Amino acid sequence: MNLNIAVLPGDGIGPEITTQAVKVLNAVAQKYQHNFNFTNALVGAAAIDKMGNPLPDETLQKCKNADAILFGTVGDPKYDELEIVNRPEQGLLRLRQSLGLYVDIRPIATYLPLIHKSPIKEKVIKNTDFIIYRELSSGIYYGDKKTADDGSFAYDTCYYKAKEIDRVAHLAFKAAKSRRKKLTLVDKSNVLETSRLWRKRVKKIAEEYPEVSLFFLHIDNAAMQLIINPRKFDVILTENLFGDILSDEASVISGSIGLSASASIGDNAFLFEPVHSSYPQHAGKNIANPLATILSSAMLLEHFNLHEEADAIRSAVDQSIEYNITTPDLNATKKFARTTDVGEFISEYIIDKKNVMHPTENISLGQSTII
Ligand code: IPM
Ligand code: MG
Repeated sequence: MNLNIAVLPGDGIGPEITTQAVKVLNAVAQKYQHNFNFTNALVGAAAIDKMGNPLPDETLQKCKNADAILFGTVGDPKYDELEIVNRPEQGLLRLRQSLGLYVDIRPIATYLPLIHKSPIKEKVIKNTDFIIYRELSSGIYYGDKKTADDGSFAYDTCYYKAKEIDRVAHLAFKAAKSRRKKLTLVDKSNVLETSRLWRKRVKKIAEEYPEVSLFFLHIDNAAMQLIINPRKFDVILTENLFGDILSDEASVISGSIGLSASASIGDNAFLFEPVHSSYPQHAGKNIANPLATILSSAMLLEHFNLHEEADAIRSAVDQSIEYNITTPDLNATKKFARTTDVGEFISEYIIDKKNVMHPTENISLGQSTII
C-alpha cells in the first residue's frame, strides 16, 4: 500500500517519540512491502518560533494532502503567558477544527507485566478493556470565550449542535456493537443544558442499536467509577472536555500515560497522536516513552485495514514490555531503556523476531540500555 503520512513532531518530547514511531512504520513498510512516504511539518511552539504561527498554512496544506497525520505533542512553558488564541496548543486545536476531526478514540488496556505499576490494586484493574469516544470538534473548547480587558471576568461557552452529538454517538454505538455491547454516556445532565441535549439525542439514537445497552453517568461519578470499577466500562461516549480529563485519568490504569494512544477521525482526515503532553522538563534526554506514539501508529495502520501490520506493532510492544525494555516511567531500575532503544527493539522485532533475543542474551542491546 502507498501511504503519504504528514509527521508533525511539535514540541518537548514530540520530536523524539515521533522519530521512533516513524522508525517502526519504516520497519513495517520493509517487512510487509509497503510504501510509506513521510513529510515533516512544523506545529505548536516550534512553528511559532520559526513562522510566528502555531499552525502555519504550509503545515495545514501538507496535512490536507496527506492520507494520515502522525502527531507528536504541543506545548511549551516559555509561551505560558500568551493569550489562548496564540498559544502552541492552538496548533492542534485549529488542526482538529480545520480538518473536521470530530471524534478522538482513546483505548485503555492493561498489560499483565505492568499491572503492579498502577497505583490501583491489581484485582481492580486486571483485564480492564474500554475505549473512550471523545467528541473533538466542539463544546467548551471552541465556544465563544473572553477575558475582560480589566481582568474582572472571563467566560468560556459550551455549545453543542444536535448534529455534532449525533455523528459521534453513531460511531460510539457502532464500536459498542462490535465489542461488549455496552455504552456509557458521561455528562453532567443535572447541571448543564448541553448535557441534557446529549442525553436526549443519545437516547434517540440508541433505538437504532437495540443490541447495545445504554448507561448514563455524571462526570463526577464517572471519574470515581473509573478508578474503583474500571472493568465495568466498555465504550464511554462523552463531550470534548470530559473526554480530555477522563482519558488522562484512565491512563493510570495502564500504568503510565506513556502507553495511551489515540486516533482522531473526521470524514476525510485522520490524525494519530499520543494522549500525553509535551513533557518539556525531560525533552532531549532520550528518556521519554515512545510507546503511546508507536501504538498510535498501529491505530493508523488499523485504520487503513492493515490489521496484520498493526498486530505486528502491538506484539512487538508487548514483547518490549515483557522484556522490560522500557523507559523510566515504567522501569525504575538502572537498566531502563532509552527512547531510541525502545524504538530500535520494536523495529527489529517487527523485521525479524527470531533474531531479536532477550536483552540479557543480547550483549549489544543490554549495553545500550545501561546508563
Ligand atoms: C489532548 C491534549 C490537548 C487537548 C491539548 C494539548 C490542547 O490535552 O489531546 O488530550 O486538550 O485536547
Ligand atoms: Mg489531554
